[in-house]
Amino acid sequence: MKLEDVRRITVVGAGIMGRGIAQTFATAGYDVTLNDLSSDLLDAALNRVKTNLDTFTRYGFVQAEDVAVILARIRTTTDLADAVRDVDIVIEAIAEDFEAKRQLFNRLDSLCPDRTILASNSSSLLISEFAAETKRQDRVILTHWFNPPHIVPTVEIIPGHMTSPETYELVYELHRKVGKLAIRIRKEIPGYLVNRIQMAMLREVWWLWEQGIASAEDIDLAVKGSFGFRLASIGPLLTNDLGGNDTNYRVSRYLLPLMTNSTEPPEAFRRMVEAGNYGQKTGQGFFVHSTEEWNSIIEKRDKEFLERLKSLY
Ligand SMILES: NC(=O)c1ccc[n+]([C@@H]2O[C@H](COP(=O)([O-])OP(=O)(O)OC[C@H]3O[C@@H](n4cnc5c(N)ncnc54)[C@H](O)[C@@H]3O)[C@@H](O)[C@H]2O)c1
Repeated sequence: MKLEDVRRITVVGAGIMGRGIAQTFATAGYDVTLNDLSSDLLDAALNRVKTNLDTFTRYGFVQAEDVAVILARIRTTTDLADAVRDVDIVIEAIAEDFEAKRQLFNRLDSLCPDRTILASNSSSLLISEFAAETKRQDRVILTHWFNPPHIVPTVEIIPGHMTSPETYELVYELHRKVGKLAIRIRKEIPGYLVNRIQMAMLREVWWLWEQGIASAEDIDLAVKGSFGFRLASIGPLLTNDLGGNDTNYRVSRYLLPLMTNSTEPPEAFRRMVEAGNYGQKTGQGFFVHSTEEWNSIIEKRDKEFLERLKSLY
């Protein structure tokens, strides 16, 4: 299959990630089928896509008259066999549960046409483990999007041991074609690239917060106004070159032995999660807000992200 042969894409799982991925491909002109376990979930996903598209029109990413056309490109069904009957690419975006994903890949392999490429949006699992469930290991790949998927540019494209170069190139080019910043990951590794880097930072952030070195507000403010401010424009390695690697090397030799190298999340963070304080989902996490306040935080976030997307990409 060539890139120009790709016409139909099915997204399995219409949650936070799946609906945004479906929106991205439908906006780019593809026929998209969205599959989930109930029609209520699918209706809610479509409503969310409509709201997202309305926001996109306000920032000029989509013309108002195109919204209905884009929505009409998204078909929904709870029947997996129907969803993948004549599909070129399937993107799996169900919950992060190895056994559920393993079973799904097994079913997809028997239901999909021979040509179909199977992709997973898992955020931590290794694609080779699902590929082994199929008789098409050369056509199985991992595409790792970031939340909100219809806005955040990067998608990591990660091959399994058996992914063919043809599958890899097609999927890489497809993501570029729909406007994503596709990143070539050469070899699969747990957490891939971005989540490993992010987790290294969070380990230190959580430790500093637990130690009471600064308040949650001040930790976020400090990061936003310093390396966070730089990072949307220049990456960490270019930042190193611009700042001077001699200095960075000396600072690292002094500081690295003094920083946390814990292999467990900190106690205070564990207690927070065990108390059910998940953040926005439950109203309380590092910060406490009412539902209205969380909604306006998300609205402000999306507005700023869209402005940044426009100016940087
Ligand atoms: N949320 C994030 O920030 C994020 C970022 C990157 C990757 N991911 C990954 O993307 C995937 C989806 O995450 P999410 O946050 O969208 O989850 P979610 O819980 O919001 O959505 C998952 C959806 O899958 C549906 N589902 C479950 N089993 C199904 C099945 N067998 N068939 C069809 N639908 C099924 C659920 O009903 C639900 O609507 C996970 O693998 C997650 O690790 C999430």
